[in-house]
Amino acid sequence: MTTKGVTEEMDSKENEKPMLILKDIHKFYGSNEVLKGVSLEVRRGELVTFVGPSGCGKTTLLRLIGGFTDISSGDIILDGQRINDLPPNLRDTRICFQNYALFPHMTVAENVGYGLKINKWPKDKIAARVRELLEMVELEAFGDRMIDKLSGGQQQRVAFARALSLEPKVLLLDEPLSNLDANLRLVMREEIRKLQERLHITTVFVTHDQFEAMAISDRLVVMKDGLIEQVGTPIEIYERPANEFIAAFVGYVNFMDGRVESIDPATKNTVIRTEFGKLEIALEQDDIQTGDDVLMVIRPESVSLSIDCGSNRQNVLCGTLKTYMYAGSIAKCTVGIGAKKMIVDQYNPRDAQQFQNADRVEVEIPRSVHLLKKKI
Ligand SMILES: Nc1ncnc2c1ncn2[C@@H]1O[C@H](COP(=O)(O)OP(=O)(O)O)[C@@H](O)[C@H]1O
Ligand SMILES: [Mg+2]
Repeated sequence: MTTKGVTEEMDSKENEKPMLILKDIHKFYGSNEVLKGVSLEVRRGELVTFVGPSGCGKTTLLRLIGGFTDISSGDIILDGQRINDLPPNLRDTRICFQNYALFPHMTVAENVGYGLKINKWPKDKIAARVRELLEMVELEAFGDRMIDKLSGGQQQRVAFARALSLEPKVLLLDEPLSNLDANLRLVMREEIRKLQERLHITTVFVTHDQFEAMAISDRLVVMKDGLIEQVGTPIEIYERPANEFIAAFVGYVNFMDGRVESIDPATKNTVIRTEFGKLEIALEQDDIQTGDDVLMVIRPESVSLSIDCGSNRQNVLCGTLKTYMYAGSIAKCTVGIGAKKMIVDQYNPRDAQQFQNADRVEVEIPRSVHLLKKKI
C-alpha cells in the first residue's frame, strides 16, 4: 500500500469516529434529577435533534454540552477529548439560544464578529470573515444595521452566523425557530438544514415540535422525563415507534386493541382479532408472536374513508361520521365505530368525496400497521 493509501485510510477511520459522545449523563438540580442517564454518539456532520415535551431536559442537556451548566455525573467527549471541566469558551462548541441573545447595542457586523474580536483576530481578518458569514446567511447588505431594526427571521440569521464564526466542531441550537411565525419557520428550517449540510457541521438541535424535528434531522432522539425513549431516523421513529408515548408524540394516532390470532410463516399475513372483528395485516416486525396482546398503531393518513356500508370487504369497518373539518389540503374526520372514535385524514378533499355529519361511512384499515406488544 502506498503512503497516500495509508493516509487516506487513517483519514476515513478518523471520519468514522463520533464527533460527540454523551456517556451516561446525569444532572441534578438539588434533589431533582432532570437527566437520568443520557448516552448518545453523534456522527461527524450529522444533525441530531432532541425532541420531547416541555420540561423533559432538552435545554439542560444542551447547556451541559456547551459548558453553561455543571454536569452531575457522566462524560462529554468532543472529538476524542473529555470536555466536562472546560469552560464554554475553551470548548469547540457554540450555542444559539432560543432568544438569540444578540447584543442590542451593537450592529449586525459587530455581533457576528464578536467572538473573533474576543479571540484577538486582526481587524482586516475579522472584516473579511464577517463579510463571508453575512453572505452565507444572505444579510450582506445589513452589516451596519442595529439589531432592533431587524425582523425576527433576520435576527435568527445573525445569531446563526455569530455561532458559526469560529467554525465550532459542534453547533448547538436550542429551539432556534420558536419565535418565528409559522411560514417563516418553514423557510428558516430549510435554510438551516441546507447550510448545515453544505458546511458539514455536526449539529445538535433541540425542539419540542415533532414535525420540525422530523423535517430537519438525520436522526431524532425522543426524550421523556430526563431519559431517551428512542433514537432513530425520522422514518423509523414515525413508522416503528417503540412505545405508545412515542407513537402519540410524533403525530396523530389511532390505537386499537387486538390479539394476534395467526401469523402465516411464509407470507407473514397476520390475523388480528379486535372488538370489531378480524383484521388482516402484513407483519413487518419480528417481535410479535401468535397469542400476543397488541396495540395497533393506525395513522390517520393511512386509513381510507368511503361512503355507505355493507361492502363486506376485508379490513373494512362501518361507522358514522361525527365531525368533518375541511382545511384546504386536508379534511380531518372523526368516525364513530361502536364506542370508538377514529381520526381519519382525507387528502385533497376538494376532489375527493365530501361528507356530511352523520353519514354512514366505511373505514378501511391498511395492511401495513405497526404493532406494539402489550406489557403483561
Ligand atoms: N436552573 C435550574 N434550576 C432548577 N431546576 C431547573 C433549572 N433549569 C431547569 N430546571 C428543571 O429541569 C427540568 C428540565 O428543564 P429543561 O431542560 O429546561 O427542559 P426542556 O428544555 O426540555 O423544556 C425542568 O423540570 C426544569 O424545571
Ligand atoms: Mg427548553
